[in-house]
Amino acid sequence: MKLNIAVLPGDGIGPEIVEQGMKAVKAVCEKYGHELSYKHALVGAVAIDETGNPYPDETHELCMQSDAVYFGAIGSPKYDNNPSAKVRPEQGLLGMRKKLGLFANIRPVTTFPSLLHKSPLRAELIEGADFMCIRELTGGMYFGRPQGRSEDGNTAYDTCVYTREEIERIVRLAYQYAQKRRKKVTVVDKANVLATSRLWRQVAQEIEKEYPDVETEYMFVDNAAMRLVQWPKSFDVMVTENMFGDILTDEASVITGSLGMLPSASIGVHTSVFEPIHGSYPQAAGKNIANPLATILSAALMFEYAFNLMEEGALIREAVAASMDANIVTEDIAENGKAYKTSEVGDWIAEYIAKK
Ligand code: IPM
Ligand code: MN
Repeated sequence: MKLNIAVLPGDGIGPEIVEQGMKAVKAVCEKYGHELSYKHALVGAVAIDETGNPYPDETHELCMQSDAVYFGAIGSPKYDNNPSAKVRPEQGLLGMRKKLGLFANIRPVTTFPSLLHKSPLRAELIEGADFMCIRELTGGMYFGRPQGRSEDGNTAYDTCVYTREEIERIVRLAYQYAQKRRKKVTVVDKANVLATSRLWRQVAQEIEKEYPDVETEYMFVDNAAMRLVQWPKSFDVMVTENMFGDILTDEASVITGSLGMLPSASIGVHTSVFEPIHGSYPQAAGKNIANPLATILSAALMFEYAFNLMEEGALIREAVAASMDANIVTEDIAENGKAYKTSEVGDWIAEYIAKK
């Protein structure tokens, strides 16, 4: 098969973790005889520095022409600490999501036996937890207008907007995934306070009837945040709006042992994007210490979701699990003080794939 990938490393640790992921991608393509072609493009703070635009037109063109986008991370302290910056790296990521129509961000949360003791939760609470968070990605407060400040600068506002159509398509997707899993959907909202959430709940209640084989549960977001740490195994497919999903998936990722483990797939109208859910971790940039596993697991999702190459995806997962069993891991999850470098983990995994 011909695979045509746009590689967008972005900021901070982005370039070094994407490099490891590409080692795995190349190893898999070699093994299965796929013809890989890929091109790098700029996004985020590096793109602002070079072009003034966090998501340059050239990058968008490349994404549109590719079969999949492999993405690192975005964000830089230079902008985080400057709230009055007019152009921000995050606008690159948001612009890309909007322009590619990536309305669904799928974040599968699974546990790894060798990581259980790293979880802030007791092992018995987390062992066997396996759920999927489906975060709406192109609506809500991230994109609602008006957004801004009053003239005197002392009042600020964001607007949360959702249309029936936006809710319908994401909720349907959640039911379709649930049908292939344990047949349970948890709709997370704040319908006791927010008008958008009440529309979410109304639409979900209508769609629920189309899927009688799936159990539906409605949960307020504050309660869901609590339930994630109290009883994570109770979830199968969770579906929620953009901002709630952003917050809940950071929480969900860390209960499995490390934020550095959670991959994601963003799918929608045009080319899908595969990226780790952690950010650009600027403190570690260039030090060769960041955990590349979420990015490598995102490559597994890329084979599965973008190319329907399930065996290839499974082999990457197997290699990641093997690296953890063999303790060939970075310092965030290392045992007995023996930590490997980012590039060493990447090399080990690529070699495992090649030898398989
Ligand atoms: C994520 C990130 C982004 C978001 C930031 C970098 C804009 O936190 O992908 O979860 O909030 O969506
Ligand atoms: Mn986030």
